[in-house]
Amino acid sequence: MSTINYSEKIPNNVNLGEDRTLQRALEGWQPNFINWWDDVGPDGSTNYEVYLRTAVSVDPQGWAQFGHVKMRDYRWGIFLNPGDANREIHFGDHKGEKAWQDVPGEHRANLRRIIVTQGDTEPASVEQQRHLGLTAPSMYDLRNLFQINVEEGRHLWAMVYLLHKHFGRDGREEAEALLQRTSGDENNPRILGAFNEKTPDWLAFFMFTYFTDRDGKFQLSALAESAFDPLARTTKFMLTEEAHHMFVGESGVSRVLARTAAVMNELKTDDPQKVRAAGAIDLGTIQRYLNFHYSVTIDLFGADQSSNAAIFYSSGLKGRYEEGKRGDDHVLKGQTYKVLEVRDGHLVEKDVPMLNALNEVLRDDFIKDSVAGIGRWNKVLEKAGIPTRLVVPHKAFNRQIGALAGIKMSPEGRVVNEAEWAAKKAEWLPTAEDFAFVASLMGRVVDPGKFAGWIAPPVMGINRQPVDFEYVRFG
Ligand SMILES: [Fe+2]
Ligand SMILES: [Fe+2]
Repeated sequence: MSTINYSEKIPNNVNLGEDRTLQRALEGWQPNFINWWDDVGPDGSTNYEVYLRTAVSVDPQGWAQFGHVKMRDYRWGIFLNPGDANREIHFGDHKGEKAWQDVPGEHRANLRRIIVTQGDTEPASVEQQRHLGLTAPSMYDLRNLFQINVEEGRHLWAMVYLLHKHFGRDGREEAEALLQRTSGDENNPRILGAFNEKTPDWLAFFMFTYFTDRDGKFQLSALAESAFDPLARTTKFMLTEEAHHMFVGESGVSRVLARTAAVMNELKTDDPQKVRAAGAIDLGTIQRYLNFHYSVTIDLFGADQSSNAAIFYSSGLKGRYEEGKRGDDHVLKGQTYKVLEVRDGHLVEKDVPMLNALNEVLRDDFIKDSVAGIGRWNKVLEKAGIPTRLVVPHKAFNRQIGALAGIKMSPEGRVVNEAEWAAKKAEWLPTAEDFAFVASLMGRVVDPGKFAGWIAPPVMGINRQPVDFEYVRFG
């Protein structure tokens, strides 16, 4: 069985040792990465030993090795899923040709842009989450936060490897720039909007990992179809890690709901002020957080009509979610798809060429997947006998990107005027007061097995350890 080899600087399954130039380049980037981690990674965590899962290979025994480790000693490895020498491109204009092991000159700029945009989200989320450790609701949750943080760091490594290996000097410059942009920085922000938002508290963190890490799942799934084989193989492996991030979000919100429902039943009330006074988060606040994170996240899929999306697909750079399972011709010329626009104050559907609507196709796949988990959240309320249900807002609600940007819309999808928007906004999106209330609950609870009063304990621990296991040794 494979184990973690701490003498190996950069664990990998890409024969790094045989490519001295590349190895030296990556070993040159590594100290800058560690500096970045020390500067803007998890606040105050340097001496903690955290019960982390480390990937040491992609086989079933190797991809999840558990043990206590200091995070800056975590082995950020480079792992690609096993390749298939005969793999063929299965969509777009190159359908049926052999997958590429190197970057074709004519697609170089677009591929670099795709990899940089994906890579930029990984360190961004670590930056967004850096203060959360100071207000963890339990040692179990603290460990999950850190697990996500180190894996997002590894995802950055995965993209930096591709930049160094396949894009020469401009790849190396892009790899440096990935450590220089900072989430929320006025002068040098991260590339995408949602990755410059704050993640101020743990409810926001759970919503972020439920929705925004799920955006990651869909983007990675589309890239896992790529004709550029190294990108397809590395994103496939990243997806195995992403599943845990979404689990943290889904189970986190479930536990918040379980606690809120218990308080509502104890006090026999649905009055948000009474729920708050008892130290739980009222359902209205949870719904408003959901509305915010959902709308900000679906913007990440980009404009509903995009010539870039058509080019990326037709040239084989980026496929659709589960491309291989779809029964159409995988070329999509002459096909259409419905997108929304506002005409005479009403939302209407219109048919546009499907190739141009592939951002919308991916967004709609994401929406289906998100809604399924919200059904599981509602089961928690149903079981507790609470009649309220969480719902996702209409996809035109609170959009900043695409044809729906700037249109004022209720969560049900009704076009509203400025006056109604101003009057209702506080019912629809989190207010300064909501944030202040949630912030007031965020104390640090880190004794093994103890949990903050606003969240229920999980059903079980990590890697079959008990819930009160010492997941973090503070040293
Ligand atoms: Fe990631
Ligand atoms: Fe993630």
